[in-house]
Amino acid sequence: MSAPNKSYDPVEVEALKPEELERLRDEAFAAFAAAADLAALHEAKIAHTGPTSPLSLANREIGALPPQAKAEAGKRVGMARGAVSKALAARQAELEAERDARVLVEEAVDVTLAYDRAPAGARHPLTTLSERIEDVFVAMGYEVAEGPEVEAEWFNFDALNFEPDHPARAMQDTFFVQDKQGKADSGVVLRTHTSPVQVRTMIDREPPVYVICPGRVYRTDELDATHTPVFTQVELLAIDEGLTMADLKGTLDHMVQALFGTGMSTRLRPNYFPFTEPSAEMDMQCYVCRGESVGNPDRPCRTCSSEGWIELGGCGMVNPRVLIAAGIDPEKYSGFAFGFGIERMLMFRHNVEDMRDMVEGDVRFTRPFGMEI
Ligand code: DAH
Repeated sequence: MSAPNKSYDPVEVEALKPEELERLRDEAFAAFAAAADLAALHEAKIAHTGPTSPLSLANREIGALPPQAKAEAGKRVGMARGAVSKALAARQAELEAERDARVLVEEAVDVTLAYDRAPAGARHPLTTLSERIEDVFVAMGYEVAEGPEVEAEWFNFDALNFEPDHPARAMQDTFFVQDKQGKADSGVVLRTHTSPVQVRTMIDREPPVYVICPGRVYRTDELDATHTPVFTQVELLAIDEGLTMADLKGTLDHMVQALFGTGMSTRLRPNYFPFTEPSAEMDMQCYVCRGESVGNPDRPCRTCSSEGWIELGGCGMVNPRVLIAAGIDPEKYSGFAFGFGIERMLMFRHNVEDMRDMVEGDVRFTRPFGMEI
């Protein structure tokens, strides 16, 4: 065996002395024990085990020792560092357990407590649908026009070219408003359609006129699964120079495509309305079967009863007599119009089977339609 190297005394390296290492170790133990929470423990961890901590610096001193001293010093430093990391892990586990226990208590929710918030209502799907239709036209530059629900008979019928004996004026269709003496022929009715808004708009504005008029209308029907005395129509009116039936058809096609998807189309069938000439009934292609159910018993369609088409409402070119009643020169301007009820659209679009659900205002009916605004 060779004699110890007298020229080097490991004890002389201050940081590696056993008592110094013990002191550093105990200091770390004390700092961990004193850390009251995980954040404080993190600070202590950096101070006592981080790269600039006294123990890490001591570890670096080992490299400078002569080989024969390294083993002994390395063992001492390693033991001190091992004890420190163990103490750190133990304290970490202790503080985490404390935190978890505290969170369980502090964030506990008593699910048995009474529910004290007022339940949210819901928008009526007719309002939402009406606004969707308005949006389609507002995007094309149309304005939204409104008129009164209690309307002068002149606007509701006369200006729209209804003859005095037209059956639609009869008592079974129209709600007449009594005057103060109780006389029924006060000249005031609950509007039976939104078409009087056409006349009001033409009187109020100079052409060109492009308006969409949504609103409630009234007829003396009993309330049952397929009828309601109050329902909602959407009316459209365009007055400009040179408008033709082709513009009407293109506008209708655009509307059904915007509402029901690309490729949808409409068709017109001849009909009669006093306020349009020519007049037509408008149908839209069935958006469910797209006509594939027609003559195809293997693929019946409930939405269109395998007809391929769904009836929407009426339309036509504004009758020149109506233009004259509203003060517009029919030699210079022409116009097109259409009107339809949106309850029916809501029914086939969402499989609503009973009209009464739409008027009763029960939130259990409206809520599933969501809060689309
Ligand atoms: N007002 C009609 C109704 O209630 C619907 C209608 C038909 C409106 C043709 C129009 C139209 O604007 O051009 O039955």
